[in-house]
Amino acid sequence: MKDVVRRNFDASVDAYATYERRTNRFTALARLLAAEMRVRTDDGLGTVLDAGAGTGVSTRVFAETATNTIALDVSREMLKEVDAAPRVQADFDRLPFVDRSVDGVAFTASLFLVPDPAVAAREAARVLRPGGVVGAVAPLGWTDADGDDAFEGLERDSRSPAGATAVRDALADEFAIATGTWQFSTTAANLRLFHAIPAMAARLYPKLDTDERVAKARELLDSLDGTFEQRWRWIVGVTE
Ligand SMILES: C[S@@+](CC[C@H](N)C(=O)[O-])C[C@H]1O[C@@H](n2cnc3c(N)ncnc32)[C@H](O)[C@@H]1O
Repeated sequence: MKDVVRRNFDASVDAYATYERRTNRFTALARLLAAEMRVRTDDGLGTVLDAGAGTGVSTRVFAETATNTIALDVSREMLKEVDAAPRVQADFDRLPFVDRSVDGVAFTASLFLVPDPAVAAREAARVLRPGGVVGAVAPLGWTDADGDDAFEGLERDSRSPAGATAVRDALADEFAIATGTWQFSTTAANLRLFHAIPAMAARLYPKLDTDERVAKARELLDSLDGTFEQRWRWIVGVTE
């Protein structure tokens, strides 16, 4: 599964940039997450590991806030775009860092992408110093103006998203956590643009190849109109 996720993001660089230029969504999420992490540290964010840094959207935000930032991602193609910090190509389930070596670990829209978030939660706890802080955001999906799931009744091969509860539970096992939700108003056009990212369309049609799945997602979402709310769960934890 991880190879599939890596390949999906390797193929997502351009579409990801287009979505972010239009919406600024991941920048907004990283800013909110950085603020929640910062208030839980006594002396500011020191060295932060941006785990699942992607093209560096979240890295840029943490580089503004932390003393040092390191961008880590499994996708070489996404990582090539990062310009705000040193880059490490690695799996966050096996962090190439010694124990207690960083002050913060941030998973901006990344920890829900692994089969078992508990593995990376344990790794984060291992590399964080005592009093260090972890943060994560994970998607809760889209609702329409009536509060109904935007995907209800739409025929697709799998349901999306699935991992926010698993992310919260995994972090709660390792850290003293606080959690909540953030909500963004968005349009049907932006919901379609999100699923024009091959890695996101894969959550609807995991078995199709890149072009086919993006085309099928476009077709599926073509009839949507109006505005939607996109919700995310945030979790911030401190080492105990
Ligand atoms: C939705 S993107 C978010 C990127 C970035 N944090 C942002 O805010 O724009 C998720 C990123 O997590 C990375 N990722 C997924 N599983 C990973 C793993 N096991 N180890 C490291 N990175 C991973 C993907 O390659 C992708 O770049």
